[in-house]
Amino acid sequence: MSSIKVNIIDINDDKHIITVPLNTELSLMDVVKNAGFSMGNCGGMALCASCHCYVSNNIILNQKTDAEEDMLDQLHNSNIEKSRLICQIPISEELNGIILKIVKN
Ligand code: FES
Repeated sequence: MSSIKVNIIDINDDKHIITVPLNTELSLMDVVKNAGFSMGNCGGMALCASCHCYVSNNIILNQKTDAEEDMLDQLHNSNIEKSRLICQIPISEELNGIILKIVKN
């Protein structure tokens, strides 16, 4: 496998699918931002929540860091099961088919 598919549901509920090469050091936030979605205000430091998404399928993700947990705790629309700051998720093969719902802040 040399690339993965990432499904994005934008704030208007429109669906987009992007293809992401695996040979990258980028985060999920970087590739979604590069596809034209507005996020990444803090540069991927878990400090701004502009990359807050609900992850809506059963893909097993990396553990949240304390910094990510702290930021999610401060958001009024955080969902304990679905919310992630996608700048904290590195691109990997396991993400193939992930569904991201961008959360309106
Ligand atoms: Fe700022 Fe993810 S880009 S928290």
